[in-house]
Amino acid sequence: MAAGSGNAGLPRHVAVIMDGNGRWATMRHLPRKAGHIAGVAAVRKVVRAACKIGLENLTLYAFSSENWKRPATEVGALMGLFRLYFQQDVSELRDLGVRMRIIGSRTRVDPDIRTMIEESELSTAHNSGLNLIFAFDYGGKEEIAAAARELARAAAEGRLDPETITPEMLNSRLFTAGLPEPDLIIRTSGERRLSNFLLWQAAYAEFLFVDTLWPDFGEAEFRAALDQFSHRERRFGALPDAKA
Ligand code: FPP
Repeated sequence: MAAGSGNAGLPRHVAVIMDGNGRWATMRHLPRKAGHIAGVAAVRKVVRAACKIGLENLTLYAFSSENWKRPATEVGALMGLFRLYFQQDVSELRDLGVRMRIIGSRTRVDPDIRTMIEESELSTAHNSGLNLIFAFDYGGKEEIAAAARELARAAAEGRLDPETITPEMLNSRLFTAGLPEPDLIIRTSGERRLSNFLLWQAAYAEFLFVDTLWPDFGEAEFRAALDQFSHRERRFGALPDAKA
């Protein structure tokens, strides 16, 4: 959308920090894993809603590069849920017209998960519906450092004049190359942090922090978030319409 063009309408790209699974489980005297299982159910609801609404891009923060620091049992439980999700959901997503993309490092995950990731991307590459992006073993600082490293290498090898480096050149070396920047970033569970998520891409994003825990977030909450976004005035550093 152009600068100063009034109310925001439907975002092209929504990104979600799915937080609060652990607290949801603890409140019910359940193990944390039960919260993550309920979190997967919420993923399914929100992805279906996004398809119904006709959203172009949805990015979900499934596992951060810092999440490896959690106890091995919890990391193992989460990896088990990713395996199940890829085994059980990809064919339905393919039929829904979803194109899958997984952003993040692929060096630390188990080889079988890496294969599932690659297959899910390949088997949905021809689709033209929702772009569903999972940030998995993702860290924004690492992403920017890797892009800077690539530019530095090109400069050191004499293929690039450092003086000519532009934000677009760095942008095109990020995992998200080719995607529009997120218009709206939602974080559930009342926390108000970005937690190393889409640091570069969030430059002009609108933020929405909701108290709902992720497992309780569904179609109604997603539509309410989009509705709130539609009333935001986005200026991208320019003046509001009336003063332009
Ligand atoms: C944050 O809740 C959530 C995560 C670290 C993982 C997000 C994972 C899912 C929603 C389920 C897996 C998704 C797929 C697609 C298979 P938390 O554990 O930090 O909650 P807390 O802050 O209440 O402890």
